[in-house]
Amino acid sequence: MLRCGLRKASWLLAVGLPCLVVLSAAAHDQAAAETGGAIAVAQVDSRLEAWRQAYKRPASVPYPPENPSTPAKQALGEMLFFDPRLSRSGSVSCASCHNPSLGWRDALPTASGFRMQPLPRRTPSVLNSAWLASLMWDGRADTLEAQALMPLTAPTEMNMTMPEAVQRLQAIAGYQPLFEAAFGAGKPIDGAGIQAALATYERSLVSPRSAFDAWVDGDDHALSAAALRGFALFTGKAGCVSCHSSWRFTDDSFHDIGLPGDDPGRGRYAPPQVVPMQHAFKTPSLRDLPPRGHYMHDGSIDSLPAVLAHYAAGGIERPSHSQQLRPLQLSDSEREDLLALLSAISGPPLQVRLPQLPQ
Ligand code: HEC
Ligand code: HEC
Repeated sequence: MLRCGLRKASWLLAVGLPCLVVLSAAAHDQAAAETGGAIAVAQVDSRLEAWRQAYKRPASVPYPPENPSTPAKQALGEMLFFDPRLSRSGSVSCASCHNPSLGWRDALPTASGFRMQPLPRRTPSVLNSAWLASLMWDGRADTLEAQALMPLTAPTEMNMTMPEAVQRLQAIAGYQPLFEAAFGAGKPIDGAGIQAALATYERSLVSPRSAFDAWVDGDDHALSAAALRGFALFTGKAGCVSCHSSWRFTDDSFHDIGLPGDDPGRGRYAPPQVVPMQHAFKTPSLRDLPPRGHYMHDGSIDSLPAVLAHYAAGGIERPSHSQQLRPLQLSDSEREDLLALLSAISGPPLQVRLPQLPQ
């Protein structure tokens, strides 16, 4: 339907040509009530156009100056990410939970840890982690380098100590030349190198482009009318944009969206008087969501329609409940439009080769 394109719509309206701009009925009505008629449509159109620009992908991956990327370091990090010998049992690698064929997550409500014990939280994807401002659902890690130590040494996960992990790698002849290629001749295998290489590999994992990206970059035909209406809802009436902002669809902040449960989330690291941080969890990216599966920090919601039903119901009331969540009434077709948007945000799976591990 929207074939004259959002970019041109304002101009067409200005000269009085008919152009069917796809907007949610409510956004249209609200704007029409405010200013009336075609001018209102033009205004909503320019609002959407501004949002379109706000979701533009960055041109390149940010690597920190203290840990620049090189092909050798990235290749080493890739091997370490897939190497189960970094775990005490010898059977768990980073990729066991962040599985590339499962969207860099797992298919479980919450992760399965050492000796298959269930962990309290769901495995997030590691795609686009180069841009993470804080890591983990509660933001307790600041950098990918620091984060890498956590699963490696957590007794409930890979259950190693860093000195033991270093010893394991030193005993594998093939690793020494890889460390030297990454960090310089004569450089011994050490914990800092393991962390730096893992982080470098993770930074290289970026969401492939999606239909939504093509639309953002100017292809007016890349999105279906339903997905376009979904974006108008997302940035308008439904208010999703107040937290799922930026090209990654996250504000990198923490909110209590009213899920039941007593996990304090970010609240564990904030003083008790900072009420909004209690039960608050990091806004997850909405890119590359699995079409089915487990959502939220605790894996408690198992479908995207159920996520929308949660937002419509509003979640449980408590003092920390986010004030940015508005009471929301969504018709069946509006829900379909939001789901169409979520699907258009996701690109094809990121193809990676499984490395041949050093012996
Ligand atoms: C047993 C499953 C498991 C293993 C093994 C594992 N992870 Fe994770 N990973 C998780 C879970 C669960 C979380 C979320 C934990 C939390 O927030 O408390 C997580 C979080 C992360 C995050 C933060 C993502 C974000 O959005 O904040 C990164 C990065 C990460 N893991 C990388 C790694 C690396 C690197 C390894 C290997 C050294 C690894 N993981 C091993 C389950 C696992
Ligand atoms: C107040 C901020 C906020 C608003 C507004 C908001 N979200 Fe969220 N969203 C979050 C947070 C925080 C989480 C994770 C909560 C948790 O796990 O405890 C989340 C989780 C999700 C998830 C699950 C993603 C995953 O990987 O588990 C989806 C899907 C989602 N939101 C879609 C939406 C949609 C669609 C809207 C608009 C109707 C919306 N959100 C509005 C903050 C928000």
